[in-house]
Amino acid sequence: MLSVPSVVKSSETSPLRIARVTLSDRASAGVYADLSGPEIERVLREHLGPDHEILARLIPDHRDGLAALLKGLCDDEGCDLVVTTGGTGPAARDFTPEATRAVIDRELPGFGEAMRAVSFAKVPTAILSRATAGTRGRSLIVNLPGNPRAIGECLPPLVPAILECLRHLRGE
Ligand code: MTE
Repeated sequence: MLSVPSVVKSSETSPLRIARVTLSDRASAGVYADLSGPEIERVLREHLGPDHEILARLIPDHRDGLAALLKGLCDDEGCDLVVTTGGTGPAARDFTPEATRAVIDRELPGFGEAMRAVSFAKVPTAILSRATAGTRGRSLIVNLPGNPRAIGECLPPLVPAILECLRHLRGE
């Protein structure tokens, strides 16, 4: 079993502007409730504390629509961190990594590598996720798989690297 670094609670972080973006044709059409976006919010508040602003977005799986939303959240809304969920798999309408790569300046492949490694130990199908991450200006974009349980497994081990990346982007 792969061991991962323990997650340090970071209540010292100055308030961040964060966006969570759910990619789901069916949840955005109201066929079922979006459980993944709220799960991102729960995990981030647990690990970062309660003081951060978290914007919520829910959109269908659409490559150009996601790319435009990511640009707006980074450039116009000034988000420090954008966390997406869903659309990372091999299905025909899974476009999240492509839309992310279309808008980032620099890819950070370690985020995807780490979450696949952490999850593969528990769920062999975890390697079907093509999730990636990267920076756009002073914003960090991180993809997560769509399964709410996957968020609870993948996101906590990424928190130290997310915080360190934001410090680098702020020039601290
Ligand atoms: N990772 C974890 N931890 N748990 C899971 O259940 N599901 C996998 C993978 N990663 C899964 C996981 C599956 S079956 C798929 S298809 C991919 O994530 C992509 O999911 P997405 O298209 O909803 O992003």
